[in-house]
Amino acid sequence: MSDKILELNMDSLPNPARRKLLAGTGAFSLAGFLGGGVSFSAFADVKSAPNGSPLLGFKAIAASTADDIAIAPGYRAEVLISWGEPLVDGAAAFDPQGNNSAADQEKQFGDNNDGMSFFAIDDNRGVMAINNEYVNEQYLFAHGGSKAVSAEDVKKSQAAHGVSIVEVERADDNRWRVVRPSRYTRRITANTVMHFSGPAAGHAALQTAADPEGKTVLGTFGNCANGKTPWGTYLTCEENFDTYFGTKSAGFSPTAQQKRYTLKASEPERNWSDFDERFDVAKNPNEFNRHGWIVEIDPLDPASVPVKRTALGRFKHENAAVTVAKSGELVVYMGDDERGEYIYKFVSNGKVDHANPAANKSLLDEGTLYVAVFEGDKNGMPLKGTGRWIALTHGQNGLTAENGFQSQADILINARAAADVVKATRMDRPEWIAVNPHDGRAYCTLTNNTKRGDEKMPVDAANPRPDNIYGQIIRWDEQGDATAQQFSWDIFVLCGNPIAHPQGVQRGTPNITADNTFNSPDGLGFDSAGRLWILTDGKYSNEGDYQGQGNNQMLVGDPDSGEIRRFMVGPKSCELTGITFTPDYRTLFVNVQHPGEEGDSHFPHNSPRPRSSVIMITREDGGILGA
Ligand code: FEO
Ligand code: CA
Ligand code: CA
Repeated sequence: MSDKILELNMDSLPNPARRKLLAGTGAFSLAGFLGGGVSFSAFADVKSAPNGSPLLGFKAIAASTADDIAIAPGYRAEVLISWGEPLVDGAAAFDPQGNNSAADQEKQFGDNNDGMSFFAIDDNRGVMAINNEYVNEQYLFAHGGSKAVSAEDVKKSQAAHGVSIVEVERADDNRWRVVRPSRYTRRITANTVMHFSGPAAGHAALQTAADPEGKTVLGTFGNCANGKTPWGTYLTCEENFDTYFGTKSAGFSPTAQQKRYTLKASEPERNWSDFDERFDVAKNPNEFNRHGWIVEIDPLDPASVPVKRTALGRFKHENAAVTVAKSGELVVYMGDDERGEYIYKFVSNGKVDHANPAANKSLLDEGTLYVAVFEGDKNGMPLKGTGRWIALTHGQNGLTAENGFQSQADILINARAAADVVKATRMDRPEWIAVNPHDGRAYCTLTNNTKRGDEKMPVDAANPRPDNIYGQIIRWDEQGDATAQQFSWDIFVLCGNPIAHPQGVQRGTPNITADNTFNSPDGLGFDSAGRLWILTDGKYSNEGDYQGQGNNQMLVGDPDSGEIRRFMVGPKSCELTGITFTPDYRTLFVNVQHPGEEGDSHFPHNSPRPRSSVIMITREDGGILGA
């Protein structure tokens, strides 16, 4: 989801208290809240950046503002598939003027591709599950969003959301192509039948007139990022689900629970509720509770019914970073992307059975959901500390009937409120989490938070910078294996811009230089060698605070030395998001999402209307990416 849209949604008027605080930013010291007396400038003004990493074998590229992809020398970036491409026999061709119907769109690749996973069938064939997070109305409809939407427009929008599943095969030259027709091809949309499972399935708050049992729900939307289980299924994560609900009923006022999920019923971002009563929160209040979950999909079985796994909690899910603890349990790390929201982890009761995938079916239904507390270093050292995972389990930690939680289902449906009760740490917009396969350390992008430092959200050890316009990547090391309840943490990079701010907190940590400066880290992924791939969704003005940063980009970091190099830059006003590799790490797929959201792009191939696209990246010599 474009960061620009989030800004429009949530950034209200400038906050005078915040501005006052920021006036003193250059002299900001961490001493005040850590008690250790170490000033930030001791870190930020170190001139020598790490370089010469043996992990990073490519030549860094410069920032770019071109309406095209720029990539490291010796690499090629090509379009695999774009929004609107027909997926099945008989599907209509893409119409570049926006005249495809809702029925056409149901058989075409969805819009705004985001998180995705590659599932290998053999060395040269695979199936890709690709999220279609939201739509760009200005390009989806022939009228360009200039007219009020119609019932047909709403149907087309719903059909452009969800997940696209496609088969791909490799040609002799190491390039991949989409296979059509294929028995695996499938579109999952905002109207696909799915089931609930886990503790909240069937709960009264999930029951509607259409589904009195509360166990069958239509559709998924706001599908941000993703995860992949060891038994070969895909997890798609429902993020900004609130923006799809509204009402024109006079006198409607949202409940506290609806407000906690930022429902703005009188001004929904998409006008689905005008034509589809399911999304009218006055008429169908419980439908709102049926979204904001993680959905498991079997991409290799086109007849399978997707399952919303309620044990993982309901919030604005970014991705699902899946790992297996040394002791065998499944662990899923998850971020809730909103200013001041939390980082969660799910630990299964049972252990993963690698020999018998069918035996793992209930692992995502039975387990403990935790939320993170980050504390400062006891010696006052900045940018590091310790932390705890607090169980969101009914009857523990104040999560009782007296505090409004009648059951575990209640806690899961209102996970944000439960995390409030246990006083979890309010983070700077947790986006993706990725686990380093070499040492098990988990990394999370905290993309930015312009509200940090105002009176409601003071700076803290893990979110140390007021008016955090650049973001940071935090990482933690569990004490023991991934099931542990204690961890230590540090900040891998505090992003910044030494061009605009040669000194002070907005400069960033020493691994930020004039050559790799970027803002708003978002997508994240590790390859098997332990290279950290970082994708950005931030400001692309290339002016002021953002001068010299260019368009959104992908960089690669060395977790040990901290060195970060720019690898790729996207076309105008896109974000780069979604990352998945083939098992041989010779092809990397990355998404260009919402190119030209400012009306300034013809990506790809000089298209009359810009199109979100999956990009295939290979090395000209066929080698391992990044090496
Ligand atoms: Fe869909 Fe938080 O990004
Ligand atoms: Ca983002
Ligand atoms: Ca994101």
